[in-house]
Amino acid sequence: MATLRPLMQPLRQCRSILSQHAQPSTSTPPTACARRFISSNSTTASSSSSPSSSPAPTSQQPYPSKKKPLTPAQQSFLSSALRVNQAGELAATLIYTAQTPPVVAREPHLRPLMKHMYDQEAGHLRTFNALLAKHRVRPTALYPLWSVLATGLGWTTAVMGREAAMACTEAVETEIGGHYNGQIRTLLEMVSEWEAEGYEVGEEFRELIATLRRIRDEELEHLDHAVEHDAQKAEPHWLLTGIIRAGCRGAIWVSERV
Ligand SMILES: [Fe+2]
Ligand SMILES: [Fe+2]
Repeated sequence: MATLRPLMQPLRQCRSILSQHAQPSTSTPPTACARRFISSNSTTASSSSSPSSSPAPTSQQPYPSKKKPLTPAQQSFLSSALRVNQAGELAATLIYTAQTPPVVAREPHLRPLMKHMYDQEAGHLRTFNALLAKHRVRPTALYPLWSVLATGLGWTTAVMGREAAMACTEAVETEIGGHYNGQIRTLLEMVSEWEAEGYEVGEEFRELIATLRRIRDEELEHLDHAVEHDAQKAEPHWLLTGIIRAGCRGAIWVSERV
């Protein structure tokens, strides 16, 4: 029974998170939700207005805030970004949950490191759970599948040995670091465009970028820890990391869409 415990946990987490986020799709289309990243003022320009259409300021009334509504494509990007990030962070917590017992049983000195990385992943997951709930973005429909695969990946690599477990972290964090960098780049391009057009950028939007940067940095810290703990001595390193990285890319691609 003990070996089944890691497989049951994702299903329990999945059930609880799906029930948290269950929203009738007709009442809250995803595209309507991400718009809140740029909170509208009562005087906010509509999608057809321009900065120059705002009334002139008076000495008592400063310039009204001018925040450009998100385009449908931008709303869709933000919804899918939050969805895939939450799925990825759930997978990360499950990988470390499954890896920790076999790794620590053989190498007790790694317990603090495994706990540190798990705690950071759990924090990332809480962040995206909250963002999904706040912006009413549905989680990926493949949550149960990713959960079982992540647990299986963590357990399998940990049983293969510390090097394989660390190679798993190296591969996953390499992909996830690049994935977060891509999202940050896209959001910064949106900010640059708005600023060039004279629009304001909402505080919530800036906070999202800062959050992604912090999480990206923590993922890259995990990558460094893995390499420091002999990830590249795993045999065969190229095959193991190649398969895991390809799997991550596939999971990201699907979770952005489903
Ligand atoms: Fe993470
Ligand atoms: Fe990580």
